[in-house]
Amino acid sequence: MTIHKTVLLNETVEALNLKPGMTVVDATLGGGGHSELVLAKIGEEGKLIAFDQDHEAIDKFEKKLKLGNFENSQAKIFLVNQNFSKLKASLTSLGIEKVDGILADLGISSDQLADTDRGISFMGDGPLDMRMNRQAELTAEKVVNEYAHCDLARILRQYGDEQYASSIASKIVVAREQERITRTPQLVAIIQSAVPGQYRRKKIHCATKTFQALRMEVNQELESLSSFLFQAVEVLRPGGRLAVITFHSGEDTLTKHWFRENARGCICPPQFPQCRCGHKPAIKIITRKPTVASEEELAVNPRARSAKLRVVEKM
Ligand SMILES: C[S@@+](CC[C@H](N)C(=O)[O-])C[C@H]1O[C@@H](n2cnc3c(N)ncnc32)[C@H](O)[C@@H]1O
Repeated sequence: MTIHKTVLLNETVEALNLKPGMTVVDATLGGGGHSELVLAKIGEEGKLIAFDQDHEAIDKFEKKLKLGNFENSQAKIFLVNQNFSKLKASLTSLGIEKVDGILADLGISSDQLADTDRGISFMGDGPLDMRMNRQAELTAEKVVNEYAHCDLARILRQYGDEQYASSIASKIVVAREQERITRTPQLVAIIQSAVPGQYRRKKIHCATKTFQALRMEVNQELESLSSFLFQAVEVLRPGGRLAVITFHSGEDTLTKHWFRENARGCICPPQFPQCRCGHKPAIKIITRKPTVASEEELAVNPRARSAKLRVVEKM
């Protein structure tokens, strides 16, 4: 069972222009909401390759398949418990060279957020873990207890846009000298002690940005995304589409700039009177402005509020 409510479901799958028989990658299986609709579109001749670095997501979907929940779809399904930054190598090992569509619905699922054992949320009492892939070495506990002050502050600023980054980092460094910081409530208390009263009383919890930043560092989210975008465009067939849903400015800015950069033709310096580079764009941007959730969707799924869908087509 999943509690995850799929965001921008129809908008994303429609944007991929899927037809029966196509080969499609869902880079972020999660609760499988997008994958299920993809399966319905590609029919029995189609192939779905679904990635998730969290083996629990893969296991749950596998169980669903065994229970015959998709008996209408005879499509070939490959479940890959791997980071999407390994997209190309994973496809090669399955004997797949090119695909017709790729989607990525970034970040964590509601299942992961609700699991207090993962310590992703500041709401419950859990270990400072935050890994999506539980085999990975880096945990939030290591980051909080072992990173230097300057690195902690940089992460909070860069990944969380946290205005009190330096002060929170300082309080962490002082607190960990007394005892190791291992649980989420310990960290929440440290953050509360580092920020002014009016910040603590804001609608958005004062630990939100720190927790987001630590999660991004632990899971190396922006690094994986950069590597994925590059490979995704490489493995797409001409005319194939890539749809990316982002949830915060770090990943949206990265995606938007990467798309713009790769949709450019000539890359000669502006002072050149004539093009000498002969550079051709790799992609065409389909969504000039990102697609966002409708009022109807927001009414039933507040998590969709920050979702932005960007779509490109391989040239
Ligand atoms: C927002 S959820 C996807 C939800 C899914 N689209 C649905 O409709 O149920 C994101 C999922 O992607 C996985 N994920 C995030 N980053 C990943 C990465 N770099 N490689 C593989 N999986 C990743 C997470 O573990 C999580 O299960």
